[in-house]
Amino acid sequence: MAASAVENAGVSALRSVMLRVRQAAERSGRDPALVRVVAVSKIKPVSLIRQVYNFGHRCFGENYVQEILEKAPQLPDDIEWHFVGHLQTNKAKLLLAGVPNLALVEGVDNEKIANHLDRAVSNLGRNPLKVLVQVNTSGEESKSGIHPSDCVELAKHVKFECPNLQFSGLMTIGMPDYTSTPENFRMLSKCRTEVCKALAMAEEHCELSMGMSGDFEQAIEMGSTNVRIGSTIFGPREYPKKQTD
Ligand SMILES: *Cc1c(COP(=O)(O)O)cnc(C)c1O
Ligand SMILES: *[C@@H]1O[C@H](CO)[C@@H](O)[C@H](O)[C@H]1NC(C)=O
Repeated sequence: MAASAVENAGVSALRSVMLRVRQAAERSGRDPALVRVVAVSKIKPVSLIRQVYNFGHRCFGENYVQEILEKAPQLPDDIEWHFVGHLQTNKAKLLLAGVPNLALVEGVDNEKIANHLDRAVSNLGRNPLKVLVQVNTSGEESKSGIHPSDCVELAKHVKFECPNLQFSGLMTIGMPDYTSTPENFRMLSKCRTEVCKALAMAEEHCELSMGMSGDFEQAIEMGSTNVRIGSTIFGPREYPKKQTD
């Protein structure tokens, strides 16, 4: 009883998010179909994901390797999984082997992780993997995400040294507390201009993953093509135990 009330809440929340996404895209004169909504389901049960899936949504995001490895096999394989956020090098192989329908890794923030992913794709013989380079748009020295001045170099590395990866754009979280400012969004957009110039790539082929529950409308108005929305769809997260990855 209680569980199904929660599940229905997830579907109506998604419906309202999709409407707000469409309106934000229209306000900025863009086609709403060009803004992807990643339903970030970390910490949320498979039953809840299935409700949102049954409503017709296909794109889901997870942030912990162990968790996506447990959930993905229990869910239909036409889900388009995104891994969002920092990925540890020693988990790259596990992630790719365990999630054949992994569509996008949003969080390549150094050459080492790019190389590990590239090698894992090659060893598994799967299709080239799309990746976004994660940029720290808020600080000087990056914990998660490369410094904006290094984004061209890392994008070049992915494009030219990692034949099994497909460089697909840039991602940012914003501030360390998972909020963002217009300045973060402007910075990511500026990185895209530089990367596209350096790679002779059309900007419309270079995604901007920015915007989360608290700021996705503003991010869309500033050019986001991929918003990652967790708590506004699935409700606030309660962390039962310390996550280790
Ligand atoms: C959890 C998470 C999100 C979703 O955050 P909400 O504020 O709940 O929408 C987005 N991006 C990343 C990288 C995350 O880890
Ligand atoms: C970006 O770098 C700053 C400075 O090192 C750091 O404090 C901050 O946590 C990083 N931001 C993110 C989102 O990791």
